[in-house]
Amino acid sequence: MNIIGPDTLVFGVDDVELCGQFLTAYGLNPVADNRYEALDGTGVVIRHQDDSSLPDKILQTGNMLRKTIYGVADQSVLDQIKREFEGEREIKQLVDGSLEVVDDVGFVLGFQITVRKPINLSAERVNAPGSIHRPANVTGVDVSPEAPTPKPRTLSHVVYFVPDIEKAERFYTERLGFRVSDRFEGMGPFLRPAGTFDHHTLFFIKTPPQIQGCEHFTFHMGGPSEVMSAGYALAGKGYESYWGPGRHQFGSNWFWYFNTPMGCHIEYDADMDQHDDDWVPRVAPAITDNSQIFLFQWRDKWAPGGPQN
Ligand SMILES: [Fe+2]
Repeated sequence: MNIIGPDTLVFGVDDVELCGQFLTAYGLNPVADNRYEALDGTGVVIRHQDDSSLPDKILQTGNMLRKTIYGVADQSVLDQIKREFEGEREIKQLVDGSLEVVDDVGFVLGFQITVRKPINLSAERVNAPGSIHRPANVTGVDVSPEAPTPKPRTLSHVVYFVPDIEKAERFYTERLGFRVSDRFEGMGPFLRPAGTFDHHTLFFIKTPPQIQGCEHFTFHMGGPSEVMSAGYALAGKGYESYWGPGRHQFGSNWFWYFNTPMGCHIEYDADMDQHDDDWVPRVAPAITDNSQIFLFQWRDKWAPGGPQN
């Protein structure tokens, strides 16, 4: 089933304007109708929590994520998904041609032919003795006043708080063809759909029922320097760092998490591992030391000889 990954996350929030300001500061481009997009057209839609266009609030928790819309390769995949659930549960066909269905643990899912546009940008290139990746006279840091601000390139993954992770894993693997990349014992699996080699587009964290919902979501950046500089700029605007910067073990992605007004965290990430079907999933205990190979602690500007704290 050629599902590529999340195209759009739809939130129902208390303060639409505040969320819009935050997502713009994060680096997404505001487009029409409270939609905020990365460079490839994937993104986030913000609605007021009482907006009648939103799917019903199924999860009776503090969760503000109302729908995860997946992009698929073509119409044949939508037909396949329709056949998979027809006669078993309600599957809505919306006016835009997309499908809407509720998964086995209460998350509302959408499926549409993907909005993703190809991105014609290179990754950050690194020079090392024995392996030079940046040609002569191409600088690693652009100090010109016109230097572009790093922009999120594509919606990478979403992480759910889920009380019944076994049930959730069965739904995504057996019904939608996701594969497990790696697993934290007792916490949850990292999952990727068939249409991407990204280590994960979905991860579960096991929780008690009253806190089911979205834990965080993430956009891919062009490399670790972009994670650092985008996060540094966001922190400089007064937004609160939650965890990072650092680098994960499973997936190898660099990360930096921030608090958001959408009732969850947001992450910048870069340089995620790619896996095909030959990959054998690893299993590790869900302890802090296994989630990061290193972790920095962000602090405000400091200069040698300046005030100490
Ligand atoms: Fe993440």
